[in-house]
Amino acid sequence: MFRNLSVFLVCAFAVQCLADPDCSQRPKKEDFMNCCAKPAPFKDVMAKCNEKFPFQKGEPNFCHGECVFNETGISVNGVIQKDKISAILGEMYKAMPDFIPVATKAVEKCDETVRTKMAKIMEHKPEGADKCNPVPAVYGFCIFVETIVNCPASGWQNTDDCNRAREFMKSCPMHHKQ
Ligand SMILES: *[C@@H]1O[C@H](CO)[C@@H](O)[C@H](O)[C@H]1NC(C)=O
Repeated sequence: MFRNLSVFLVCAFAVQCLADPDCSQRPKKEDFMNCCAKPAPFKDVMAKCNEKFPFQKGEPNFCHGECVFNETGISVNGVIQKDKISAILGEMYKAMPDFIPVATKAVEKCDETVRTKMAKIMEHKPEGADKCNPVPAVYGFCIFVETIVNCPASGWQNTDDCNRAREFMKSCPMHHKQ
């Protein structure tokens, strides 16, 4: 009772209190990987790239992102086909039309995010950026996050873990980091 009252009082003065996620408690990847349905062709690409470039704990895996972009045709000969991304996603989500506007919006937003954040990320000379281009991983992760945040109800797993992860992504900055 008193705890609730103090939360109420704090919230009356803090703006982003409604969702109230703890931004220091980053949700685990396993907890949100499958929260939002993915199209079958994308799952095949992911399976292939997971095998080729397995994730190691705590290490950025830029080659995985590059692999996904290569395999989907978003990257051709190392060049990201920006004007084709929407069409490629549209094709992937063909059987899931609810997702098309979500994907379109994600591409617009992430294009902007990548443009503004990339310079900053490269300043830190991230480990592994010499092996593979980091842009696909940053871009891809941004699209992944946007898809979760705006996931249509038809594809959403309504579980505590997923809802918590979604609140975190909505409210905590730096969620573009891998
Ligand atoms: C992606 O394709 C480019 C160009 O064909 C190639 O140089 C690069 O090694 C590929 N990246 C991965 C991670 O397979």
